[in-house]
Amino acid sequence: SGFPSVVKESLLKLGVPSAVLEFLFGWLYNHGDCPKIPEAKGSVNAIRNEAFFIPLYELYLRYGGIFRLNFGPKSFLIVSDPSISKHILKDNSKAYSKGILAEILEFVMGKGLIPADGEIWRVRRRAIVPSLHQKYVAAMINLFGQATDRLCNKLDVAASDGEDVEMESLFSRLTLDIIGKAVFNYDFDSLTNDTGIVEAVYTVLREAEDRSVAPIPIWEIPIWKDISPRQKKVSAALKLINDVLDDLIAICKRMVDEEELQFHEEYMNEQDPSILHFLLASGDDVSSKQLRDDLMTMLIAGHETSAAVLTWTFYLLSKEPRVMSKLQEEVDAVLGDRFPRIEDMKKLKYATRVINESLRLYPQPPVLIRRSLVDDVLGKYPIKRGEDIFISVWNLHRSPKLWDEADMFKPERWPLDGPNPNETNQNFSYLPFGGGPRKCVGDLFASYETVVALAMLVRRFDFQMALGAPPVEMTTGATIHTTAGLKMTVTRRVKPPIVPALEMPTLGMDAPICLS
Ligand code: HEM
Repeated sequence: SGFPSVVKESLLKLGVPSAVLEFLFGWLYNHGDCPKIPEAKGSVNAIRNEAFFIPLYELYLRYGGIFRLNFGPKSFLIVSDPSISKHILKDNSKAYSKGILAEILEFVMGKGLIPADGEIWRVRRRAIVPSLHQKYVAAMINLFGQATDRLCNKLDVAASDGEDVEMESLFSRLTLDIIGKAVFNYDFDSLTNDTGIVEAVYTVLREAEDRSVAPIPIWEIPIWKDISPRQKKVSAALKLINDVLDDLIAICKRMVDEEELQFHEEYMNEQDPSILHFLLASGDDVSSKQLRDDLMTMLIAGHETSAAVLTWTFYLLSKEPRVMSKLQEEVDAVLGDRFPRIEDMKKLKYATRVINESLRLYPQPPVLIRRSLVDDVLGKYPIKRGEDIFISVWNLHRSPKLWDEADMFKPERWPLDGPNPNETNQNFSYLPFGGGPRKCVGDLFASYETVVALAMLVRRFDFQMALGAPPVEMTTGATIHTTAGLKMTVTRRVKPPIVPALEMPTLGMDAPICLS
């Protein structure tokens, strides 16, 4: 695109009308030497009914690593190629914004870190990343343990009563309880209670998901907001959440004013290790609206994603008893019957591979969204500014060209003593947390959170699909959900857990013991 655009610019300066130039150069693009991106035909209707990334997979097999999909007047580029993904996310990331995603999420996240672009994003990313330091993540291990323990107690009751449980909603509550404490020191306690605030969070989440798959943005019609009962409910929920956030910010400000702790790199208040507390103590100079946007963004980003990872991991495990046994063996040997600690994270190698592999088969979210801010070249194809692009992580992660037995759940595909797989060591064919400057800031947090929950749950229980449970099918909003829940039968494990010999001398000193 370099040479033609120089000629075009010069002609424009010489006074040639731009309409004439557009026509001429448009013709050149379409009829000149520039290769044209393959255009997918048909299949568009199917996209509205099922999880939309499924038909995109079929189209990928037919049209390859980049193709165009026309959708009425709209058109999208679908990218499923590792090197083009790397170009967009990393090498030339400055040339792309969040596009449609930012438009859809504006009502709930405002200019929070996920939708923000340009200068606002740069400033906020620099303020937030330091809050997730090593010491913070290590402190979070206790929180993950306590929250999962509450879930275990709940499952214990179900196991005694012989009642089946719907795990997807329980995982959603587990991760909501965790992220509320972790981000702004609020205990939703949603595993036990259905308070107004919990309901408000779900109202807003469901709205965000529906908007992201709705063909027409009716909520943009001005009066609609005031007359639609549903939009009124959404506004009320948002107001409730914002009021709670304002209160939490005020309470936290008071705590920071009263404390004597000096702010430093690994600063953490032991009573309140939350990200909010770190940000306020750091003297982060930010408007309260921006702060609320960032808190809300992290609440949503860290909630549904982790819940979906756990849901699909347990689904996969129910299909592969061999993997489950191997996992339980490792957890028995490493943890025995105590709560996980930071040192265990390195030792729970197979558990980590199970999560790595679950994230390959069920990436959350299944597509990443971008918009080109300038003309660019993707692979061999020149593209214009303003193109809406979907990077299909689902396609990358299930490509028969990139993976051996791509559809199989095989944690063994990654050696236990090898590096943890990430976008860099897998050359952008594996993107569980994205890549480049906009990579997830919560990747380590989320890995530990899911490993702790997984380990503690399989240590105490066996999980099977419930008899007569509805078939587990996928639907999608921001993350991949089941269509009818994940109904499981939970039984207490009969084998008494083996307490590892090395831990014997410290038993009962610094970790709760419950030999049953
Ligand atoms: C961004 C995945 C948990 C906060 C992202 C992105 C992915 C991702 C793929 C990149 C999005 C893009 O490039 O368009 C996940 C998964 C999680 C998880 C799979 C759980 C298993 C978390 C948690 C937090 C978090 C726990 C907060 C503590 C964020 C934020 C961004 C982000 C703030 C935006 C970063 C930026 O644009 O600079 N996440 N995430 N995520 N994630 Fe996560």
